[in-house]
Amino acid sequence: MKNVEENLNNYRYLIEDYIYKKLQKLKKRQDVFDVMEYCLRSGGKRVRPLLMVLVFEMLGGSNIDEILPFAAAVEFIHTYSLIHDDLPCMDNSDMRRGKLSCHKFFDEAAAVLAGDAFLTYAFEVVSENFVVFPEANISVINFLANSSGVFGMIGGQFIDVSLSFENFKNSIRKLIKMYRMKTGKLIEFSVMASSKIVSVNALDLNLLKKFSRLLGFAFQIKDDILDCDDSFEVIDNLKEQKACVPKITFVSLYGIEFSIRMLNKIFKKIVLLLNKFGERANTLIKFTEYLLEIKN
Ligand code: IPE
Ligand code: IPE
Ligand code: MG
Ligand code: MG
Repeated sequence: MKNVEENLNNYRYLIEDYIYKKLQKLKKRQDVFDVMEYCLRSGGKRVRPLLMVLVFEMLGGSNIDEILPFAAAVEFIHTYSLIHDDLPCMDNSDMRRGKLSCHKFFDEAAAVLAGDAFLTYAFEVVSENFVVFPEANISVINFLANSSGVFGMIGGQFIDVSLSFENFKNSIRKLIKMYRMKTGKLIEFSVMASSKIVSVNALDLNLLKKFSRLLGFAFQIKDDILDCDDSFEVIDNLKEQKACVPKITFVSLYGIEFSIRMLNKIFKKIVLLLNKFGERANTLIKFTEYLLEIKN
């Protein structure tokens, strides 16, 4: 276990060093830079870049420099998605990671612009190093744009803001679709991107895709559980629920206990899938266990 933790810490250090260096290049515009720095240095877990690096390593990739720009880009896009997600017109959250959210610390205009800046900068970073594997790079950039856009994170966020207890009609399929898109697509990108750089056979590709989808779904359920505070009570009746739970989530519909059972079930499936990669998958399995907070 110590080795796994050390491994993860080393990778996290490498990733953060890279993204902070990239951010530093924007310092000449101190005003926007300050807002971006506040959001990027606020204790994010770096889940998506870590997934990228771990899969890259598992598939036998040797030169991490090849994927660091993509790892940074996906973290920038994730950061932008959270800045906008917290805005009053979206989730109206005053706090993020135990600190004031961006629009609360600065103001709404600053938050909108910093979010936009992260999105555009992500594509600047991935398109500036084109010497090695230009075709593979373009294909990953295209994949990133797709995963972030209408058929990915944005599309999912749109379903999220449009869902209400009135129009939900108990459609679990809609909920699954929302999770797959708003959270799952960037996770899927993070898991699958390396397969465009390192050669992977069709069987492994299929395993990775299944893993990424299961993880994306489970990760959002975990996030919903973390969002529940002590005052949260699950009430079976949807109408009553409306009074105490403002949002439709897997947890507000099915309760914390069932959601935790679901997480354990998904984790078991993930272990079965990843075990097919043999010992190479150990760190990835441990990381998944940590992300889903699976208690043995
Ligand atoms: C939180 O994601 C929002 C979701 C998409 C579920 P993370 O849990 O990865 O957020 P940070 O960056 O570590 O705070
Ligand atoms: C965030 O979903 C998903 C995004 C794509 C930004 P949530 O709204 O559930 O995430 P938190 O709880 O604010 O982190
Ligand atoms: Mg939201
Ligand atoms: Mg939110």
